[in-house]
Amino acid sequence: ARLGVLVSGSGSNLQALLDACAQEGFPAEVACVLSNVPTAFALERARKAGVPAVVVDHKAFASKTDFEKALLDALRGAGVEWVCLAGFMRLLSADFLGHYAGRVLNIHPSLLPAFPGLHAQRQALERGVKVAGCTVHFVDAGTDTGPIIAQAAVPVLPDDDEKSLSARILTEEHRLYPLAVRLAVTGKVAMDGTRTRVDAQPA
Ligand code: GRF
Repeated sequence: ARLGVLVSGSGSNLQALLDACAQEGFPAEVACVLSNVPTAFALERARKAGVPAVVVDHKAFASKTDFEKALLDALRGAGVEWVCLAGFMRLLSADFLGHYAGRVLNIHPSLLPAFPGLHAQRQALERGVKVAGCTVHFVDAGTDTGPIIAQAAVPVLPDDDEKSLSARILTEEHRLYPLAVRLAVTGKVAMDGTRTRVDAQPA
């Protein structure tokens, strides 16, 4: 399966996907990386891996519709079949998602449905939860609301701050995202409306 990875920042999750795709037998490859932030370090990671990396700067477009059209053009041009959001900080419209229905994944640094949106790790610390984690889910038009594919939990330790908790969660993110991509692209899990369908006998 050909993946398009959308990024805005450091791209450590992109790196985890690149590394997984480099493994023999992994059922996907990264066909292109798109960043809405021209200075994102993720672009360097893509180039180093020999993957086409394109900046689609939302600020350069008059409307969200135009921005998303440019994203779609780039994805289609690279023959992308599945879209992986990896620290991509723009919300995609229902219209955009319709072009990749059931084929857009996101990773979020909380145990959804707890703590959607920005600063999930800070929200977790402020709420005083003792277990935190990360979630890979299918993307719908809401913010971090789509059907869940996989989750991993980590403890919140008494001395944690946002940095230490984020680092512990990020380690799990790097393990979880390739695992979830494998499940999705091989048809073992699929988006079924607001649910995730788990198929014992994938096509
Ligand atoms: C990760 O914590 C991811 O869950 C969140 O943004 C962060 C991106 O980190 N959506 P990176 O760019 O993959 O290093």
